[in-house]
Order: sequence, then C-alpha cells, then structure tokens
Amino acid sequence: MTAREALATAEQRLAAAGIDSPRVDAELLLAHVLGTTRSGVYADLDREVDGSLEPLLSRREQREPLAYVLGEWGFRRLILKTDARALVPRPETEIVVERALVLLEGIPAPRVLDIGVGSGAIALALKDERPDAEVVGVDVSRDALSLARENAHALGLDVELREGGLESAAAGWDLVVSNPPYVDTLEGLQPELQYEPARALVGQGFHERIARSAHTRFLVLEVGDGQAEAVAAALSVVGYRAVTITYDLAGLARVVDGSR
Ligand SMILES: C[S@@+](CC[C@H](N)C(=O)[O-])C[C@H]1O[C@@H](n2cnc3c(N)ncnc32)[C@H](O)[C@@H]1O
Repeated sequence: MTAREALATAEQRLAAAGIDSPRVDAELLLAHVLGTTRSGVYADLDREVDGSLEPLLSRREQREPLAYVLGEWGFRRLILKTDARALVPRPETEIVVERALVLLEGIPAPRVLDIGVGSGAIALALKDERPDAEVVGVDVSRDALSLARENAHALGLDVELREGGLESAAAGWDLVVSNPPYVDTLEGLQPELQYEPARALVGQGFHERIARSAHTRFLVLEVGDGQAEAVAAALSVVGYRAVTITYDLAGLARVVDGSR
C-alpha cells in the first residue's frame, strides 16, 4: 500500500471509530511508522508502507490514547516517553508550568515540589526551564515513578523522584505544584480515559488537602472544569494571598495559584 492509500484508509477507519481528529491521528501514525514528521509524510505519497502501521492503527481504532500508541508525546520543550503507567501529559498542564515559572522569577535556586508527578511532565519541564531549581516529584504510584525516572534519565534532567502522598509538602518549599486527580467519575467521558490509570484521574478534595498541608511560598494547582472558584476560595480560607485564576485560550479556567 502507498502512503497515500494508507493515509486515506487510516483516516476513514479512525473517523468511523469516532475519533475527533482522524486526519491528524492518521498523519501522526504514518509519520511514526515512516520515521518522519507529519509534513514529511507528504514529501513522497507514493512510497510503500509496510505492515507495521496496522497494529498501531488498530490500537488507536480501539480508542487507546494516541500518546500510548506512539509511545512518546511532546510537553513544553520535551519529548516524554508515554505509556499506561501514567497519565498522558495534557496541553492545559503546560499552563501550570508557565504559571510556576512566572512565580519563580527572581527567586534564585528555588526548591520546588510536584505532588502526583505522573510521567514527570511538570517536574521535568520545570527543571528543564529553570535549571537552577531543586526539583522533587512524588507520587503514590510506583508505576508512574518508574516512568518518570526513565524520562528523567533519558532527558538527562536531575530531578529527585520518590514515593509520597498529598501531605509530602510539610517541609518548607518555595513552590508546590500539583495536577491532582480531580474527575468525579469516568462514566460518560471519552473512551481513551479508560486506558489511563484511574487513580491519576478520579479524586475529590485533593486540591484542598494539598492547600491545607503545604508549607510553601507559592502553590500552583491545575483544576477541572467548574472547579476554579471553589479551589480559589479554599486557598483564601487557609491563608493564601494574591489568589489567581489562569484561563486557557478557549477561556476555560485551568490553574489556581496563591502565595503566603
Ligand atoms: C492527573 S495525574 C498528573 C500527572 C502529571 N503530574 C501530569 O500533570 O501529567 C495525577 C497523579 O497523582 C497521583 N496520585 C493520586 N493520588 C495521589 C496521592 N494521594 N498522593 C500523591 N499522588 C497521587 C497519580 O498516581 C497520578 O500520577
């Protein structure tokens, strides 16, 4: 089959499977198999595509997240290894990193803790963009920690990764950051979420617990749809000042932070 035919077939099958962006997904799968970029796929549409596309296409057709099928995913300036051991890093989480970097401006060699480090996305991006920071990431999931360690090693980023729960921030930190589980239930949500670790997604009250127990100058939290106001209020109640809500480009509240 030529690349042109493979692209058309893949797009059609992914659309039939209910995927929102069948063309982009087809391009990325084909690019992966051909060892090129999305635009590189179009450089020679007559080239032959071997059988290695089929198993990947079939996984995506079954609604496995594209990042797991490809085995890697971009986050800020990094390419992270991604698999079912940890949540796929989301674009909105890049705003968490952005906010943390703003708050850390002017603080030399800051001490930073990421609670629920997952694949390492936030912790590693912060270390990458603030090399003078001392960054620690904790998680209750050993699977996630093993993936985060592989990512840290592959990227040559010196981040301490260890087991730890929500109350890990009792010692003094300059900044505590977290993208905690904040979904009530996976019911009715897109099928891709079923492939991700449930305890990375489902949880209630995590923001408040972190805010209460953290000893930190700055706290930066990712929030779910409709949660920002309540989380901002909870931060104020436990003594955070300058509580700020940051919105994404679509106008959705994504991040709440405060200082004390
Ligand atoms: C939404 S994921 C975030 C992963 C990563 N920080 C990111 O933004 O892509 C939440 C993470 O919190 C971890 N987690 C769940 N319960 C926890 C707890 N009680 N203490 C610490 N981490 C927890 C999960 O294992 C998961 O890795």
